[in-house]
Amino acid sequence: MRTQVGIIGAGPSGLLLARLLHLQGIESVIVERQSMEHVLGRIRAGVLEEGMANLLREAQVGERMDQEGLPHEGIHLAFSGRMERIDLAAHTGGKAVMIYGQTELTKDLVDAHLAAGGVIHYESPAVFVEDYESDQPRIIYEQNGQRQELICDFVAGCDGYHGVARQSVPADKIRLFEKTYPFGWLGILSDVPPVEEEIIYANHERGFALCSLRSHTRSRYYVQCELDDDVANWTDDAFWDELRRRLPDEVSERVTTGPRLEMSIAPLRSFVVEPLRFGNMFLAGDAGHIVPPTGAKGLNLAASDIFYLSRALIAYYSEKRTDLLDRYSAAALRRVWKAVRFSWWFTEMMHRFEDDPITYRLQIAELDYLTGSEAGRTVMAENYVGLPFETFE
Ligand code: APR
Ligand code: PHB
Repeated sequence: MRTQVGIIGAGPSGLLLARLLHLQGIESVIVERQSMEHVLGRIRAGVLEEGMANLLREAQVGERMDQEGLPHEGIHLAFSGRMERIDLAAHTGGKAVMIYGQTELTKDLVDAHLAAGGVIHYESPAVFVEDYESDQPRIIYEQNGQRQELICDFVAGCDGYHGVARQSVPADKIRLFEKTYPFGWLGILSDVPPVEEEIIYANHERGFALCSLRSHTRSRYYVQCELDDDVANWTDDAFWDELRRRLPDEVSERVTTGPRLEMSIAPLRSFVVEPLRFGNMFLAGDAGHIVPPTGAKGLNLAASDIFYLSRALIAYYSEKRTDLLDRYSAAALRRVWKAVRFSWWFTEMMHRFEDDPITYRLQIAELDYLTGSEAGRTVMAENYVGLPFETFE
């Protein structure tokens, strides 16, 4: 089989790229390891920066997001028994974030792409990318137990952290930067009204807690947990008790509890690959970088890579320009590193580490400073709503 752009992975990165290319008449084929049901059943992030929301509108998949999504103009930071609001809009010239689940977003992208005649091969794992330095790179994949080849002009490795695109590159041609954190997040999804309409990030001596939501009737909460913890150790009641202990009293009293729809533990990691381009193969999204979820940047960085990559590929097919392809890796990474830095900083400020008590006091002083200073609030707000995309001539 042959196509213009071969895409590995039908997560948000791969689907958004396919959509943006399709709207410019550029053909793609997506190969996805999992079934459609599996991909659409994953519970993931839920906070979209304005730049990402705009890119989804450009991809003509913004309609349901604009109807059902919840624009948020503020977040809360809780510490020392108090809660401070960061007014995002006031510190960024009116910007906001949009609460809309990745699960919904993925469904919108799949529906739109298939309705437009797009090709997605589910249950078709890529095993290797061959000849990516040539002008005919090939994705080797399996379908119904048979080996298949997809010959392309370009390969987009949108196959997440465990994907094969990155693994097709020899170790001496790639640099990996990685940092793991000594704890995880235990998350619950429950059909109860959220305790606050806006997200709360809480620093507490017992550990970090996060109050988030998917809608006015569906809440998403997290508590910091041990890395080797197991959801089997947690009853619903134990989760709610631990969450409430970590929130200021006034908030804790208002938490509505209910049965879990889902409970899971996620590790925290900062990870960046350099470069993001290898000949005619490009990495985007989780395939190229992972951030800890504090700050909700993972999904937004996937969109940011696709912003740069889609423009570069469109410039190539419409004007035979190769300069944007040449600039993809550096441009995407510049923005990636700033979000990696922000996510690392926010994580360090909010979690309990196994260290001496001075760290906690320093975190509280930092939160006190940040929330009490106009400059501090601006730093938080402009990073949270998302730094601008660079535009190219
Ligand atoms: N062959 C085909 N598909 C693969 C392979 C493979 N060998 N390996 C992985 N995949 C698929 C996965 O099954 C998954 O559906 O690639 C997809 C990658 O999707 P995501 O992990 O969602 O990554 P991405 O699209 O970059 O989205 C970015 O934002 O909220 C964060 O981490 C979260 O998923 C999120 C991400
Ligand atoms: C979520 O709603 O799942 C969420 C919100 C904010 C974060 C991380 C996750 O920083």
